[in-house]
Amino acid sequence: MRTDEKIIDETVQGEVLMRPPKLANGKKLFLESYGCQMNFSDSEIVASILIDKGYSTTQNYKEADLILVNTCAIRDNAENRVRQRLQDYKKIKKSNPDALIGVLGCMAERLKSQFLEQEKLVDMVVGPDAYRDLPNLIEQAETGQKAINVILSKEETYADIAPVRLDKNGVSAFVSIMRGCDNMCSFCVVPFTRGRERSRDPQSIVKECKEAFDAGYREVTLLGQNVDSYLWSGGGLKKEILTEEQKAASTNFAQLMEMVALINPDLRVRFSTSHPKDMTDDVLQIMAKYENICNNIHLPVQSGSSRVLDMMNRGYSREWYLERIAAIKKILPDCGISTDIITGFCSETEDEHQETLSLMREVGYDYAYMFSYSERPKTLAERKYKDDVPENVKNRRLSEVVNLQRENSSIKTAQGVGKVHRVLIEGFSKKSEEMLMGRNSQNMVVVFPKDNHKKGDYVNVLAERCTTSTLIGNVVG
Ligand code: 5AD
Ligand code: SF4
Repeated sequence: MRTDEKIIDETVQGEVLMRPPKLANGKKLFLESYGCQMNFSDSEIVASILIDKGYSTTQNYKEADLILVNTCAIRDNAENRVRQRLQDYKKIKKSNPDALIGVLGCMAERLKSQFLEQEKLVDMVVGPDAYRDLPNLIEQAETGQKAINVILSKEETYADIAPVRLDKNGVSAFVSIMRGCDNMCSFCVVPFTRGRERSRDPQSIVKECKEAFDAGYREVTLLGQNVDSYLWSGGGLKKEILTEEQKAASTNFAQLMEMVALINPDLRVRFSTSHPKDMTDDVLQIMAKYENICNNIHLPVQSGSSRVLDMMNRGYSREWYLERIAAIKKILPDCGISTDIITGFCSETEDEHQETLSLMREVGYDYAYMFSYSERPKTLAERKYKDDVPENVKNRRLSEVVNLQRENSSIKTAQGVGKVHRVLIEGFSKKSEEMLMGRNSQNMVVVFPKDNHKKGDYVNVLAERCTTSTLIGNVVG
């Protein structure tokens, strides 16, 4: 388990600018991201587009000419946090009336013109498929008009835009391999905010990963809402209309991962998110074949009850999920497994909640992101089911899930003591500049003395002790 199970909502991006503006326009951009890794990856596209237009970036919103907030709509509390931030940003108009504020991403897509008309919080509203239009929208907003583009696309993948890396460490990069989602899980707003699923040209993915490696990055995380359904067939033809022959000639996720793994054995490959209904043994075999594909799978279960899973429209049962876990454990015996869990979904009974706890015990997750159910407008669940589990029950179930995961995580961490871990160094440990931190293949944090080692190097660390979620040890030969 990560130290903060709600990290998905709460992370805020720092900025390290790797590319200076081509022709500076003297204007400063403050760009903040909330939500999933895909949003962080999108912000790198946005930064690229605006730096090409002459913007430089700043970490201080008070000196910015343009404030953009890339938002998340997945739960109500994620949206409320963004509203609060936008209220703060709006205040800078008092000292700098020309400053422009824009809302990007999933909340922009969900609320559309409501931001401009009712909430009056921003000058621009830009959905996830409209970032190429940002320069025009800014021009429009500069003339005092409100600007909006929330058109969703069936083709846009931003394949040709080289992202400006905004990560803090310069070691691990996110690479988006597809956009949108066709799954329609009944609780989820993503299909409405990010549109239809589409895969990105594998050549452009490999090129981006190579460029990251050449720039010193040593890890890429391939991102998609459902990476197992990645499929590229030449001109971006839709999966549903492909003949069997065309399917055979196209690139699937296992093949794509192999192409990326072959770039260089020193480039680690990770991916997120897998879907239990689509994860094939092919993917597991490719992971087993290449040392540099990390042994770590994020496989959201959401619930341990087949009845609830059916209502969630997840497309698998408890038994199916456990069979997939068994396949992982067979083909990749030391694979780290993480998950997402929702407590208190519509009509979930106490027994069904117990089924989630028993599934957690059975799988023994390394870590988990855990949430209580938050009803989202327009979703299937909102239309079909009653959000009838009381808030206090949802929260009590959430605490039980969190406590059990805490126990599971510390058991998993303790199992790493006494073993040697290959670690990619990401930087200083949180507590001391005398210590470095990195992750092992399973994504567990490992801390050890700095000596002459540096960020981006691989070292073998013998873990000698641990805290609940961190291994501590020394580098061995
Ligand atoms: N309420 C609570 N959690 C949700 N998630 C998605 N939608 C909701 C919702 N309406 C969780 C799921 C998903 C993760 C990204 O967020 O667990 O896998
Ligand atoms: Fe949402 Fe389900 Fe798609 Fe994940 S797979 S983004 S939970 S609809």
